Amino acid sequence: MSSGWRDIYIGALTCAALVGAVCYVREKRKVLPLPPGPRPMPIIGNIRGIDINAPWLAYTEWGKQYGDIVYSHLFGQHIIVINSEKVAIELLEKRPELPTNNLLGFDFNTILMRYGARWRRQRRIFHQAFRAEASLGYRPMQQQKAKQLMCNMLDTPEEFVNHIRVFSSSVIMSASYDYDTKYDDPLVALIGTSLELAVQELRPEVAAVFIAFPSLLRLPAWFPGMSIKKKAIQSREWVREWMDDPFQYVLKRMAEGTAQSCIVSTPSDGSAEKTDSVLQIFILAMVLFPEVQMKAHALIDAVVGTSRLPTFEDRSSLQYIDAILRETLRWHPILPLSVSHASVDSDMYEGYYIPKGAIIMPNVWAMSQNEEKYPNPSQFSPERFLNADGNLNDDTVDMAFGFGRRICVGRHFADASVWIAMSGLLAMFTFSKRIGADGEAIEFEPQWFSGIATHPLPFPCSVIPRLRKVDI
Ligand code: HEM
Repeated sequence: MSSGWRDIYIGALTCAALVGAVCYVREKRKVLPLPPGPRPMPIIGNIRGIDINAPWLAYTEWGKQYGDIVYSHLFGQHIIVINSEKVAIELLEKRPELPTNNLLGFDFNTILMRYGARWRRQRRIFHQAFRAEASLGYRPMQQQKAKQLMCNMLDTPEEFVNHIRVFSSSVIMSASYDYDTKYDDPLVALIGTSLELAVQELRPEVAAVFIAFPSLLRLPAWFPGMSIKKKAIQSREWVREWMDDPFQYVLKRMAEGTAQSCIVSTPSDGSAEKTDSVLQIFILAMVLFPEVQMKAHALIDAVVGTSRLPTFEDRSSLQYIDAILRETLRWHPILPLSVSHASVDSDMYEGYYIPKGAIIMPNVWAMSQNEEKYPNPSQFSPERFLNADGNLNDDTVDMAFGFGRRICVGRHFADASVWIAMSGLLAMFTFSKRIGADGEAIEFEPQWFSGIATHPLPFPCSVIPRLRKVDI
């Protein structure tokens, strides 16, 4: 059992022993069957076999055994895993209220928020600022930030992870607060640390334990298994800081009369983190699949030349770069279980009973690794997204951006940020395996940071500028 599980498990069982509160699923499902799923253990349910650091792997195996819709439970909390895009599109509308969101101070967050008046208000603001047409207005800024990324990369290529983080934060901070992010910006560092903790702790599997035993939330931080409460105190403090500081910044600029148009939103609906993760995965793929990178280099050189960076006007002539972007989203989805949804009322789907309050997890990992749709799924192959004539096909990998009315509202903005960065990086640099002291390329197996979102852990990579006369 992993240490993450052990911690939760001790807390839950201790509490159960104290209050004698052992409850089990007993509802009107006597009439309709639950979806198929693995046999649960008494009380604890389907913990066995789930690696809390990569639960999507077990869920994908279940999918192979039980089908597109799988039922399980953790301490009596219903969890339904959806392994097919078709079922996800039909079933997913609502979001569950997970007690851990509030505990860590993330109840303000549109992504995690339960459906209701506040969500509608926030979603409307995001929609106005980031819908497809509005997103076009950010392009000059995104292009400018991409140029800055290239300059930083030329200065200190070995710090590419940091440069990508700064780029990802600065595009969203600029759109949200007209805030000009600096290199080594303390605010960016704070948001990064805070989100890293959040993506580890906000797993639905952890929340399920607190839903089953709400009294656990009243236990003190020193109680065995309650380390999450210590982390929650820190997390709430961090969130308060990065919510307040940029807001004060905009107020100050307004008072000075220097504020530009921006939406004063919360940057950390995780948006910067997501752009950052996608770009890191892209670089990893370029290192591991050099033939893809060579093809992209040749195309950019032919279409754009060697004296300038690609711009959005070049995009329709650089369809292979779009295919690389789509393959990056598919090859290793940054949100392998997307963001959980919820059944607000009990429901019926294809003859199965969906209990009220079930956490519904879209298993994007299973969808993206579906061998029928994507043969040889571990291969990074942008050609999957091209027709025989070299034009892009209709598969836009929408599953990466979620489902139903909660679909990612920043997807047009994100797509443009990622594209302009990717095309510039491909124009300017070659990413390859680092050469060791013995003169041989250092081979490595990618390792992943995981929580509700994932990104590669540092890997040996050499970033070599290509010969250009680009005036940046
Ligand atoms: C490549 C980058 C991104 C990816 C892969 C991504 C993915 C997602 C996913 C999977 C969801 C959950 C959808 C669902 O519940 O079914 C989501 C929600 C959301 N995203 Fe993104 N996102 C990205 C970038 C952004 C950016 C840049 C912004 C802001 C400008 C943004 C704003 C939001 C918001 C506000 C929601 C909550 C929508 C709601 O619950 O109503 N995202 N995103």
